[in-house]
Amino acid sequence: MRQHKLALCREHYLQWVPEQTERFIIKYQMFTKGEKILVAVSGGKDSLSLWDILVRLGYQADGLYLGLGIDGGIDYSHESQRLSEKFADEHNLKLHVVDIEKEYGQSIPMLAESSHRGYGKPCAVCGLAKRHEMNRIARDLGYDVLATGHNLDDEAAVLFGNTLNWSSEYLLRQGPVLPEAEGLARKVKPLCRFYEREMTAYALLSGIEYIYEECPFAEGSQSIFYKETLNQLETTRPGVKLTFYLRFLEARKSGELFIEKNVRLGDLHPCPKCGQPTSTSDLCTFCRMIEKANIEAE
Ligand code: AMP
Ligand code: FES
Ligand code: ZN
Repeated sequence: MRQHKLALCREHYLQWVPEQTERFIIKYQMFTKGEKILVAVSGGKDSLSLWDILVRLGYQADGLYLGLGIDGGIDYSHESQRLSEKFADEHNLKLHVVDIEKEYGQSIPMLAESSHRGYGKPCAVCGLAKRHEMNRIARDLGYDVLATGHNLDDEAAVLFGNTLNWSSEYLLRQGPVLPEAEGLARKVKPLCRFYEREMTAYALLSGIEYIYEECPFAEGSQSIFYKETLNQLETTRPGVKLTFYLRFLEARKSGELFIEKNVRLGDLHPCPKCGQPTSTSDLCTFCRMIEKANIEAE
């Protein structure tokens, strides 16, 4: 690991990753051993590794898999669900499975079709639905906190995009912990300081079986382009991704970010249908999307 000037054997690497994770959990005050954690698992290396690490560290962590109904020629959703269930069975863990189509009558590709009338990719619709459902389920089932497997490459790419656009509102909300608020569960990203390669190494060395394929719709996406750009920088300047992210967190904490002074977060009120906070005047964006898709399907 050039960025840490550190080289470890398998045995010590498998100790190092959970030790570091524990450090981050404590440093950012993510959760305690007495709290109930819901880990959002996609069947990929990051979220399954996160679940593995939290359980090894002695946290009470159940899983949540959201069935999105994405095939993309590789049976993506079925395969990722199978691997999530396999992991849960082998480790004797509890996994909640919620299928978007069963819940709302429409899969993600179907919702995308009606939102964009066949144009564009389903990723925006998918992100909206995942955020809404993760929040709803974590609160309905009484979990204290929702954990996702976002790694440093994910976070640095989002930060890069938000910085290029000076998206103040998004910059203010990005971080390892999003505190609980009216209608919103606390959200945490315990792997946010690990490079993607480090998580791949952890999953492989611990023998976790995960889905290698990315979501078939991710190809050509902006976030992949940002990740590639940052990887090029990282080749010549090892550690640049980590510094970019950590200095941002420091600057925000100390109030050095000039944007902070001018930004007012929009007034939020509960959606009349689902109760989650929204800034729109009527139904939240998710409920409006479902309503529109169901009307079109009739
Ligand atoms: P992504 O948005 O695909 O980059 O995934 C980021 C994180 O969201 C993952 O590490 C998981 O924690 C969570 N996630 C993604 N897809 C799913 C899914 N289908 N079910 C549950 N959690 C998911
Ligand atoms: Fe949601 Fe790809 S569009 S995971
Ligand atoms: Zn709503």
